[in-house]
Parts: sequence; structure tokens; C-alpha cells
Amino acid sequence: MNDKSNKSPSPPRHGDTQVVTAGREHGAYYGFVNPPVYHASTVLYPTAEDFAARRGRYQYGRRGTPTTEALESALRELEGPQCAGVVLVPSGLAAISSALLSVTKAGDHLLVTDSAYEPTRKYCDNVLTRFGVTTTYYDPSISAAIAEQFRPNTKAVFLESPGSLSFEMQDVDAIAKVAHAKGAAVLIDNTWASPLYFRPLEHGVDLSIQAGTKYIGGHSDLMLGTVSANAAHVAALKETVGLSGLCEGPDDVYLGLRGLRTLAVRLERHFKSGLVVAHWLEQRPEVLRVLHPAVPSFPGHGIWKRDFTGASGLFSMALKPVPQKAVYAFLNTLELFGMGASWGGFESLAIPFDCTHARTATHWAPGGPTIRFHIGLEAVDDLLADLERGFAAMAAATG
Ligand SMILES: Cc1ncc(COP(=O)(O)O)c(C=O)c1O
Repeated sequence: MNDKSNKSPSPPRHGDTQVVTAGREHGAYYGFVNPPVYHASTVLYPTAEDFAARRGRYQYGRRGTPTTEALESALRELEGPQCAGVVLVPSGLAAISSALLSVTKAGDHLLVTDSAYEPTRKYCDNVLTRFGVTTTYYDPSISAAIAEQFRPNTKAVFLESPGSLSFEMQDVDAIAKVAHAKGAAVLIDNTWASPLYFRPLEHGVDLSIQAGTKYIGGHSDLMLGTVSANAAHVAALKETVGLSGLCEGPDDVYLGLRGLRTLAVRLERHFKSGLVVAHWLEQRPEVLRVLHPAVPSFPGHGIWKRDFTGASGLFSMALKPVPQKAVYAFLNTLELFGMGASWGGFESLAIPFDCTHARTATHWAPGGPTIRFHIGLEAVDDLLADLERGFAAMAAATG
């Protein structure tokens, strides 16, 4: 970061270092560590000639400011050398829709994993269909056999690995290889791992999406979406986002940048505590299965071990069959686990879910009621004690 241009080049840095150093401009902002929050629309040009030629580093607030550039370039570095550019949009869902729009046109066909976040499906089924783009959902465990699902007009394959409710792991390299051989683009929702634990562009992915609302922000106080693209796809992505008029508000960009600086330490804690809770749940007599990619008994564990360097704090469990009122008694008793949408903040969450109606290529049969946990940054012993109380309430309600 300091100007050491007369010294030999630095060795490649770890992600943990990159989240601290990336996107920081030496000497800018009078030496202050962080960039200012530019609240900006109009950018003034000094002369008519400059205006006519749109000469200047910045043209208009929607098209970027030093604040947005700082976060974009930090994420670009974190994604690795294949990343040719990053766009920031107002939510994770906007990142998904923008990335899909950038690779499709009327008459095209998409392959989307059956395990995708449900609003991704709804966007494909309710919006893209209106523009003549059709979608087929595929079994996330399909691997290279996805070749059989391709049609002559298949233009993109969308992955989410692991699925953010059911946690199926996908063989990204195998799917990307087939897709590229067929001339299709590969997109992934990488919100669960972030580029700290999985770098999709190094596994053949063309466009990597993150709901920055989750771990990048890390404090449940912002909405943010990011799409990182390789050289083949960055121009279409930027054009789609630019012409759609999408841009992220300056305060949320700043909060995203601020969150990114502590992403490595937070994720390490989410990973560690998440595994402690997952292993503890596995031993509970009430629990049928724990759906966590880093737990060896989980079917996708081999892929996780091969491709990922860590796990976040989000996973699920399937309970042995109990009445719904017992599940609700469990949830209502918990004091440290909130109930609400989203995840990736400092706080723990627990929500009931059911994928039955969001599956068309696979059959959702977990064997009992399912609950998704987000393990936050609280002391893990306190979380276990809270869960213990929850199970006692569940037993009392089961009668
Ligand atoms: C896996 C995944 N992707 C995308 C999103 C959408 O992010 P946002 O809420 O920022 O639109 C979510 C939100 O829960 C999610 O869980």
C-alpha cells in the first residue's frame, strides 16, 4: 500500500491480507485510511470541450465515484486474476437478475439449479419468460451429465453451491467444462462462501454473484449486490447494468467496504462456531441429519473439501418427525437466535423452511421438519445452552 515502487514485487497475498489492503489508493484522500462517502450525481467539467468529450475520471454519479471504485477494485482483487471487472447493484437479487440479463436474449434457454434461492427461480419464471427466455431446472448433483440437458439455444448455466437452504454441493469445474464446450456462460451465486473460501472464476465460472447484504456487509444493516466477471463477459455485464440505470447508494457502498475489511476474521468465527454447533446437533437424539458441507457425513462433503477453503455459518438440520407445534416451541424458546430473512450478520438466526414447492427437478424429502441456522458471533457455549433449552421446550410440546 505504501509507495515502494523501488522495491522488488510483493509475493501473492492471502485473501485475509487482501481484504485489508485491496482497493486502497496510496496518497489519496489526504492520507486518511478510508475513502470519503461521495454523495454525488452531477460532476462538473471545467470547459465546454471537456464536457463535449466527457473528459474526466468521473462522468456522473450513477457511473461511479471514488467510493464505488474502492469497493469494486477491492472485490476484483479478491476474486483473483481472472476477474476483469465488478459491478455494484442495490441488492443480491438485483445482482442475480442483472447477471442473467447480461447473458440472455429472446429465444434463449437457461439451465438453473433446482436448489437456487427461490427468488432466482421466480425471476426466471415470472420475468425472463416475458422476454422469451425459458428455463429448465436441473438436479444440483448432476455434474458432467448436465450435457444431456443442453438444447441448441441454451446460453447459460446458473449454479448456487451450496444451495442456501438445502446445501447441495455442485461440481463447478465439471459443469463449467461442459457449458463452455457447448458455448454457454456459467453463473454462480457464491454468497455462502464469498471469494475468501471459494474463488469461482478460478473454477471456470464466468460471472460470480454475491449478495453483499450478507457476509460482506456483515452487520445486517445494508443491501448490496455484486457481480464479478471475467474478460469475456465484463463488457456485456457493465452495459446491462449501466443501461438499466442500476447503481448502489453511497452509504451502502461504504458500509460494504467497511464490512469487507473484517470479513476474514468474522468468517473464521462463523466457520468455527458453525461447525461446533453442527457437530453438537448431529449427536442430538432429536436430529435426523445435519445439512452442512463441512460435516463429513454430508453427501456433498467431498466436493466441499476439494474446492473450498472454509465454510460460513449457514446450514440446516432435519429433525426426526415431530408436530409443527413442537418445532415452533423450539424456535419460540430460543433467545439468541432471531427469526427473519437474510443471514451473514453478526447475529444468530433460526428459521423453519420447506423446499417442497420450490423444486421441479428433484424431490424434497428431508425426512422431518427442517430448520436453517445462521451461527453468529456470540460465544458458542451460550448458543448451545440456548439450543438445549429449545430442545427441552420441543420435548414438552411433543407431549
Ligand atoms: C443465496 C442468496 N442469494 C441472493 C440473495 C438475495 O440477496 P438480497 O437480499 O441482497 O437481495 C439471498 C438473500 O437471502 C440469498 O440467500
